[in-house]
Amino acid sequence: MQHLRSIHTVSASRYSDRSPDATVLGAEHTESSTASTRTPAQSTSSISTIAPTSITGRKPDGLEFDEFLIMNGKYRGYVAKLMLRGLLARIWPRASWRPPVRLLGGRGAGVAGLGFPAGVMMAAMALCTAFTEFFSLRHPIALAPMGGSAGGALAAAVSNGGGLGLLGGGNGDPGWLARELPIVAEGTDRPWGVGFQSWAIDLGTVERVLEQNPRAVMLSFGDPRAFAGPIRQAGAALILQVTDLEEARQAVDLGADVIVAQGTEGGGHGARRGRSTLPFVPVVVDLAAPTPVLAAGGIADGRGVAAALALGAAGALIGTRFQATAEALADPSVTKAILEGRGEDTERSTVLDIARGSPWPSKYPARTLGHPFLDQWRGREAELAADADARRAYQDGVARGDLPAPVWASEAVDLINDMPSAADLVAALAAQAEDALARAGTR
Ligand SMILES: Cc1cc2nc3c(=O)[nH]c(=O)nc-3n(C[C@H](O)[C@H](O)[C@H](O)COP(=O)(O)O)c2cc1C
Repeated sequence: MQHLRSIHTVSASRYSDRSPDATVLGAEHTESSTASTRTPAQSTSSISTIAPTSITGRKPDGLEFDEFLIMNGKYRGYVAKLMLRGLLARIWPRASWRPPVRLLGGRGAGVAGLGFPAGVMMAAMALCTAFTEFFSLRHPIALAPMGGSAGGALAAAVSNGGGLGLLGGGNGDPGWLARELPIVAEGTDRPWGVGFQSWAIDLGTVERVLEQNPRAVMLSFGDPRAFAGPIRQAGAALILQVTDLEEARQAVDLGADVIVAQGTEGGGHGARRGRSTLPFVPVVVDLAAPTPVLAAGGIADGRGVAAALALGAAGALIGTRFQATAEALADPSVTKAILEGRGEDTERSTVLDIARGSPWPSKYPARTLGHPFLDQWRGREAELAADADARRAYQDGVARGDLPAPVWASEAVDLINDMPSAADLVAALAAQAEDALARAGTR
């Protein structure tokens, strides 16, 4: 094993995304071969403790750390980011992701709710993929455009946090878009986008949104053909979410810039005859190559992001986990249900769409948490569709608060136990993914 020899440290408080040339406050040199070596704590505005660990099998002489970001103080939760320009090109010239380096740290280390031991700082090289490079992102993470709940503040926060924030344009409600679009457009100067349900929108909706210059438009659930041309002609990237192989082939034929392969674990709507994320994603990756593919469905922590990368995806698109963030437009009852929910309580069904009178195509059932109406009508969908009184009883019950509204949620809901800010979550997901990849095969 060879070891890092030098490291430059910078203050988190003086770091700015928009000023990548972060001020170097000092340099530490260490001969350390283990993760336990520590230097004395410095001021809170600089790194308190740093000790590089090993990089397997390489001797990185002449190693230069171009950028080193330590998160402490107000950035508590996100720990560190390390980019090794030049060295990476030498060591992993063809890697689609870059193996992380783990560092130990002190003050402010640890990521709430994500299982990092207190005091252990996961500092890592950025996970660089075709997706991050395409959009110039720091992390291979996209916010799912959850209709209604992925509002402007959440999308902007994810983009500011280094991921790709996608506004949940849903069925194109003009009032909602008029309110939320300016929030994301003015809330970030990093790439952001808007997502729609293809079956529910018309071309005018897409054209109005394109006037706001989103970097990307994502389409899901339905025929995207009428919208693909105008989106690309406007200079926006076309992201297509696919739920089966037929949709995946169509996405390739339409020249999608990014394809999202959604497995059936995902929260919200998805394929009636789909497959789980684990077997679905690699098939789409192979089919779509070289188009970058994001994995979606059942990813709620950094280990899931790491798994997505291991499957050949260029990143992860995450929905349910972001419902429990400070910026999500989720009713507190929904957040509470997600924080308390269990995967085995979730179920894919069309019953609640039928009951609420939604015109969602039956081809796309939705995964929700348990609901009394599911127990009552499971397997009797046609009967419910024909029973106007039952549907009215449901709608009146929800309006009165006697019945809960549907809570769309992922099978991975057990992993959601806290409510961080979205930017902290993005950073924590990335750090944990990097750590998971570093540890893979070592247990
Ligand atoms: C509350 C909720 C609303 C959603 N709404 C949309 C939507 O409007 N458009 C869309 O493309 N996908 C939507 N999705 C699906 C996501 O795009 C994504 O496939 C899914 O959330 C991934 O699974 P996960 O929830 O396990 O992360 C929604 C998901 C959730 C949980």
